[in-house]
Amino acid sequence: MASKRTEELVAYDREHILHAQIPLGENLGIIYDRAEGVRLWDTEGKMYIDASSQMVSCNLGHGRREIIEAAQRQLDKLQHVGQYYGHSSTPMVECAMKLAEITPGDLDHFWFTSGGGEATDAAVRLSRRYWTAVGKPTKQKVVSLYMSYHGTGNGPMNLTGIPAMQAGYGPQAPGYLHIPAYYCYRCPFGLEYPSCDMRCARHLETIIEAEGPENIAAFIAEPELGASGFLVPPDEYWPLIREICTKYDVTMIADEVMCGFCRTGTMFCIDHWHVVPDIIAMSKGITSGYLPFGAVAFNDKIWDGLKGVPLMHQYTFSGAPAPCAAAIAAIDIYVNEKVADNAAKVGKHVSDRIENEFMPMPCVGTHSGLGLMLAIEIVADKGTRAMFEPPLAPIMPLLDEARPAPASDGLQPHRHRAALHHDDRGGRRDLRHPQAVGRRHRTTGTSRRVGDAEVQGPCVPHRGTSQEGDHEQTQERVDRRCRRARRAGRRGRTVGVRWHLDDGLERQSRHGGDQDADHRRPHAILRRRRALGQD
Ligand SMILES: Cc1ncc(COP(=O)(O)O)c(C=O)c1O
Repeated sequence: MASKRTEELVAYDREHILHAQIPLGENLGIIYDRAEGVRLWDTEGKMYIDASSQMVSCNLGHGRREIIEAAQRQLDKLQHVGQYYGHSSTPMVECAMKLAEITPGDLDHFWFTSGGGEATDAAVRLSRRYWTAVGKPTKQKVVSLYMSYHGTGNGPMNLTGIPAMQAGYGPQAPGYLHIPAYYCYRCPFGLEYPSCDMRCARHLETIIEAEGPENIAAFIAEPELGASGFLVPPDEYWPLIREICTKYDVTMIADEVMCGFCRTGTMFCIDHWHVVPDIIAMSKGITSGYLPFGAVAFNDKIWDGLKGVPLMHQYTFSGAPAPCAAAIAAIDIYVNEKVADNAAKVGKHVSDRIENEFMPMPCVGTHSGLGLMLAIEIVADKGTRAMFEPPLAPIMPLLDEARPAPASDGLQPHRHRAALHHDDRGGRRDLRHPQAVGRRHRTTGTSRRVGDAEVQGPCVPHRGTSQEGDHEQTQERVDRRCRRARRAGRRGRTVGVRWHLDDGLERQSRHGGDQDADHRRPHAILRRRRALGQD
């Protein structure tokens, strides 16, 4: 039974606060109150393991004093200075200098934002304004990938290649083109790597030629696709994209909002391929989620082209002092503690175990990802790669079991599933629809029991990194779900795994915790539900 305070907060939240990815007027019935390391606690004192790193933002975990104190010191000294009309501040300049130490190539010019969508929007605006400034005003169209996610503001939503996210929000702006993403397991062109000759990358050239290079301003993509399934392109992809962008004078923008800041085992994901884009959009991990912040890094060519031009794209909180101070502190930790190396090391450990322990399962089709941005793809039929329908079918029972039991006061159990299954377009959704490849962060609000803690996030294979014998039980359980879902003729999805980059090893050992408690828990919930007449 929840405390009166929790009930009040949950009830107010449910009636007054808009949450994404869940029907309006619903919440999870959980109010987080504090955090430390990889753990969160709710207002009832219940502990959760933060398996989602809060939208893949808290790369360094919760409670890092260096970042908190840097922001506090800055707030004490100077809490805000805008950058309009040439005003500047010490932390903003120092933050730019710090970023310049880690950005690739000549990307040492910056424009600060308050988040990721603002950064991708700013990147496109920068590119378009650049082309106008250098006398090529017709270069305005922007190409992005289907399955990509670049934000939900009116600007970035045009870049995002997930049609279901645009439905109901009015028409798309003209001038935005999409091409199929790199997704070898379900190649949009029906080809096989490597005989495909990188058709997905070469398609950029096809569309540039079809539209006319004089009309194309930029190409933007995530170096590793995030929201659509932690997908990684073949090694030739990014060098080829770089070549095409250079050949046709198209601005190459890497959206590192999710995959940047050590998440994939290098400081920026694009570093894996030693490719230097013209612009990088960044956010999330830039302050490790301690304060809202983002940045756009761009090269000398764009800087020189725009020099002397008064720019009219502005944000009140661009380069705000406290986020800049937090970013400097976070970057110092990334560098000094070799966090990228740790993500690569722990990621390899996890990938190896997925390969050895999950791939033999009949419902695991493939796995993908770099560093600690990893996923497995669950399929209804491994031979045909058929997917489950609805996509989350195999894991929904697990998620249901893990939900907090409804309080007897009538607090509603949330209907997260409804939010996840709203799409019924069928057909080509395997190519373009986010749910078709698993919108794993869509389930970040869910939780499940691991030892004496709850895991917040969608990390279904959490027991794959635990001790001997545990894996068989998990396999049996997942297989049973898959068989059941297959009988019901459903299709499949991908399940994501996210770790705080510096805590992965600790978390792995935690996963080896109290198996019995883990197994008892769902039954206790079901019993309680039955007692409440809800089953
Ligand atoms: C790759 C990518 N770009 C842009 C965004 C949008 O960032 P924000 O939610 O801060 O606007 C996200 C958010 O998840 C993202 O993953």
